[in-house]
Amino acid sequence: MNDTVDLLRFVTCGSVDDGKSTLIGRLLHDTALIFEDELADIQAASRIWGTRGDGIDLALLVDGLEAEREQGITIDVAYRYFQTSRRRFIVADTPGRVQHTRNMATGASNADLALVLVDARKGVLTQSLRHSAIASLLGIPHVILAVNKMDLVDWDKGVFEAIEETFRRHAARLAFAIVDAVPVSAVTGANVLERSAEMPWYRGETLLEILESAGAGRNAANGPFRMPVQRVSRPDQDFRGCSGLIVSGTVTQGMDVVAAPSLKSSTVSRIITFDGDLEAASAGESVTLELADDIDIARGHVLASSDRPPQSTDQFAAHVIWMDEHDLLPERLYLLKSGTRTTTARITDLRHRIHVDTLEHMAARTLSLNDIGYCNLALDQTIACDPYGEVSDTGSFILIDRFTNRTVAAGMIDFGLRRARNLERQTIDVSKDLRADQKHQKPCIVWFTGLSGSGKSTTANHVERRLAALGRHSYLLDGDNIRFGLNRDLGFTDADRVENIRRIAEVARLFVDAGLIVLVSFISPFRAERQMARELVDEGEFVEVFVDTPLEVCEARDPKGLYRKARAGDLRNFTGIESAYEAPEEPEIVLKAAEHDPDELAGMVMSWLVEHGHLDESPHDGGTGR
Ligand code: ADX
Repeated sequence: MNDTVDLLRFVTCGSVDDGKSTLIGRLLHDTALIFEDELADIQAASRIWGTRGDGIDLALLVDGLEAEREQGITIDVAYRYFQTSRRRFIVADTPGRVQHTRNMATGASNADLALVLVDARKGVLTQSLRHSAIASLLGIPHVILAVNKMDLVDWDKGVFEAIEETFRRHAARLAFAIVDAVPVSAVTGANVLERSAEMPWYRGETLLEILESAGAGRNAANGPFRMPVQRVSRPDQDFRGCSGLIVSGTVTQGMDVVAAPSLKSSTVSRIITFDGDLEAASAGESVTLELADDIDIARGHVLASSDRPPQSTDQFAAHVIWMDEHDLLPERLYLLKSGTRTTTARITDLRHRIHVDTLEHMAARTLSLNDIGYCNLALDQTIACDPYGEVSDTGSFILIDRFTNRTVAAGMIDFGLRRARNLERQTIDVSKDLRADQKHQKPCIVWFTGLSGSGKSTTANHVERRLAALGRHSYLLDGDNIRFGLNRDLGFTDADRVENIRRIAEVARLFVDAGLIVLVSFISPFRAERQMARELVDEGEFVEVFVDTPLEVCEARDPKGLYRKARAGDLRNFTGIESAYEAPEEPEIVLKAAEHDPDELAGMVMSWLVEHGHLDESPHDGGTGR
């Protein structure tokens, strides 16, 4: 192996059955880098699994896993290595099935080139267009369209040209710098390594020739210096080092740097590695930097060149590839992970969805699995970031569901939004404590959640009457009532329910700040939003009451006739019928409302509040003293 020849990373994309695995197998096989014993294995496997009689099924070279062989499709991203005298290659082989766009995006994230495979008999499919759009969004500069299975269309020039034209029309609207097209047959090897005798009309380069001469486009070392800080070490008073992996650019001794997001500046006094100090270090190297000044710096910050600093922002516009079975919910809190920093974030504005066939911008209220959208995000902390096009590492992020821990989206930052930085909090002298003291009470939110007809509102109403009788200052926020006013613009889609609860949680927070005991009675079907409400107030100020009434009981009661309508199909998205209710996992109070009358239930809530120090039971005389 010759380690000095340069390296090209590319990603293959396409649909099921378009022959991707066979093509990669062909490249690996014909570049003669298959070890003899591996070959013997493949010959044996071919006889069992192969689809080509006694010949070698090249796809089996690639479909390494037994499970994949049994299904006849590739499942995960697999990296393959091969080499010619001119260069080394790493190819990310990604599966074609729609639900695995996730893998395609993973494989493409650091590729120099995308190889889009199309079956000559089928032409350009939506899947190929989707993958091309993702490759382009991920900043891949060069795309090769390989029209495969030319042997099955009689090596017809017209077929190739029609597909090429369709593809070029699409690609022209993406950000690729170079678009190549080559007609091939992975099975016969035509135009893969050897020029094909069957297609004399094609005068361009073979696939391997294109791969060998393609520019390895991405050189992170040329970008501005960025090092996300993984660790700050301080073994003694005098030494303080920041360790991390340089993801972009070069740092030199004596260079002026800033620590983002604070943008405090200093100078690099030493570049330390295990093998001693360096004069300079570049992208891909892990180092410890000692700074001349004792500036505030911590894990999650980014050290950057001071002449090209990153943006410090808590809002940005970004492209998002949605990767979860559950749709995106604007305003839901997700975890955002970018480099070494994790924070909570919301999609505040879904500006459009990109139609992958036409690349049109479509109005959208949500994104579903594999959709690509453009949105604004708001973070709960300021972070250092770059436009993805300038630094892919500090310009990209993933979103994680806070309950399932699944990665639900990958994002590429377009630019930071400065709006939020024009706002600062006003200081208000009359505090929550003072307002609460005036009322001689400890404010809190008692949050009733449960199905429609479970008894939330009735119980909350009884609780409030008892509070009033004790001279306590309270307010009851009830779902049906609020939907006549503040939230009258909202319906019952998942997205609207998220927004419904977000607003009510904010209102409840304000009322707590006003010193009130706030009773909230909303179905509030989603754990994520109830958790969000809990986190808005101080520890101990949120009391979740699960009104646990079985669906059958609620349905038998049916006080407003809504269950009957829902069963008849006249009311869509009804909770418990068509729309999910996620029961609380650890509520403070569970009320078996089917087994007690409202007064007893109210008594249980009151006792809990007394036992936990939220209330004393002596009546107040309107607030003039105990
Ligand atoms: S929530 O799910 O967004 O928290 P909310 O508590 O505000 O719901 O409103 C629930 C009330 O709206 C129910 O008690 C019922 O009277 C009424 N309603 C009308 N349509 C629906 C529906 N599709 N699903 C649930 N409740 C509905």
